[in-house]
Amino acid sequence: MQLPMTKKHPAGSVKEAFNLTGRVAIITGGAGLLGAKHAEAIAELVGIPVLWDIDKVRAEDRATEITSQFRVPAVGMAVDVTQAECIRRALAEVLSMFGRVDILINNAANDPKVSTSGLQAGHSSRLECFPLEQWNRDIEVGLTGAFLCSRIIGCEMAQRNKGVILNVASDLAIIAPDQRIYRLSDLTEDQQPVKPVTYSVVKAGLLGLTRYLATYWAEKGVRANAISPGGAQTDQNVEFVRRLTKSGATWAHGSPRRVQGCRCLSGIRRFFIHDGSEPRHRWRPLGMVNQDANIPRAGKCF
Ligand SMILES: NC(=O)c1ccc[n+]([C@@H]2O[C@H](COP(=O)([O-])OP(=O)(O)OC[C@H]3O[C@@H](n4cnc5c(N)ncnc54)[C@H](O)[C@@H]3O)[C@@H](O)[C@H]2O)c1
Repeated sequence: MQLPMTKKHPAGSVKEAFNLTGRVAIITGGAGLLGAKHAEAIAELVGIPVLWDIDKVRAEDRATEITSQFRVPAVGMAVDVTQAECIRRALAEVLSMFGRVDILINNAANDPKVSTSGLQAGHSSRLECFPLEQWNRDIEVGLTGAFLCSRIIGCEMAQRNKGVILNVASDLAIIAPDQRIYRLSDLTEDQQPVKPVTYSVVKAGLLGLTRYLATYWAEKGVRANAISPGGAQTDQNVEFVRRLTKSGATWAHGSPRRVQGCRCLSGIRRFFIHDGSEPRHRWRPLGMVNQDANIPRAGKCF
């Protein structure tokens, strides 16, 4: 792969090569686990992260922390990505503050976590009784939200003839969930927690949205990509981490280790949001051929 820094910048000055000074990046779900990491990655490259989240207090708190840590004017805003009018208003506010939006990271989702006591999604997540309301809500946040933000913010980018949309998918956009890794020993079969069906559906849908967007505004200089990370290692119990790591090693499309630290995504994210990822720079990870959209897994960092 040809990195944009090869001639102009000596190896080692990655931050300089991927510098985002003055660029404005909207991150949906910015107050969450990975949202804050995306924001930090932008701030590290001297870009301006704007954290949109339905949770105003957490978004503002994260933004304050990032401002003090990286000395960039990060902003946290209350935005519901399922509401077009709310997105329009928030975009107008961002434009009045900074005059531009360069990057959109569609990251918001209903993402049930595995904690020390197992997968949060419990009995009601099983397919046999998965509530229609939950199906609608998950699709609304993860997929409709990404569509609305892409449509509204993408139009603004297309008018300026420049912009980047990065959709946060998941390895489960590509592979089947192995529900065995979530099993708890003290529950009956019909009570075993499972990764909800909507997670796979939303993430696969995001890949379709990415391919569509990748060509739609290509002539207008708006690029679209997706990343498909494996699980981020947090406070999951030891047994879960063991099972996840083991299952990843056996899957054909799996990266050598599916469980990875959140910082592991930095290189991929950095690459796709930077101008250096223009179409001539294609990355074919793990044998996957990229057509209009690059859809790598986050197993490899640079
Ligand atoms: N954590 C992982 O292991 C992992 C792995 C692969 C992919 N992902 C994907 O990365 C993204 C972030 O995951 P995470 O672990 O940080 O999840 P998270 O739950 O910590 O963060 C999601 C954020 O989205 C926000 N949100 C929910 N509904 C919203 C709405 N209507 N409008 C605006 N914001 C809303 C939540 O308040 C939350 O802060 C998700 O798309 C997830 O599917 C996560």
